[in-house]
Amino acid sequence: MRAMTRWARRALLSVAFGASLGLLAQGASAAVIGGPFALTDARTGKTVTDVDLRGGWLLLYFGYTFCPDVCPTDLQKIIAARGALGADGRALTPVFVTVDPARDTVPVMARYVALFSPDLMGLTGSQAEIDRIVGEYRVYVAKQAVPGGGGAYLVNHSTFLYLVDPRGKVAEILPASLTPVALARRVRTAMGAPDQG
Ligand code: NI
Repeated sequence: MRAMTRWARRALLSVAFGASLGLLAQGASAAVIGGPFALTDARTGKTVTDVDLRGGWLLLYFGYTFCPDVCPTDLQKIIAARGALGADGRALTPVFVTVDPARDTVPVMARYVALFSPDLMGLTGSQAEIDRIVGEYRVYVAKQAVPGGGGAYLVNHSTFLYLVDPRGKVAEILPASLTPVALARRVRTAMGAPDQG
């Protein structure tokens, strides 16, 4: 029952978020998704900005290290998809951005991203810095107290992947429900690399 509730909630979030993206596409432009940021790269402890990261492709995923199951599954998928890209994958930096900076400090994030791949960048920052990028990318984030959990909480969040091109523009917003192979194919197409099947 608990698992069903979680999946149902995730599905509802995806539907709600997809609808809001649809409205954005009809109204202004999908170009309103994304924007400038200055966050801390957990692997180096140094500030990194959207401008610093231009010149290569980014695959952004928003989540948090305490996430019980969804984030680890999706991050594994991202790393697998990047591996499936072979040599082309070297032009793609996978980036995990926390939506829970209070708990996801630099050392916590550094340990976590290292579990998945030495090539996975982990970004954290102050609550204000995270609020900014979450707003720019229209990420759904909602804290949920764990009943009887003594202050413990979960963070419900949308799970879309944002493919950012070398100019810093969002090229594609992809659902995390794609298989690693399908995800790799979509990324390869967007990157303009030859299809290798
Ligand atoms: Ni998560």
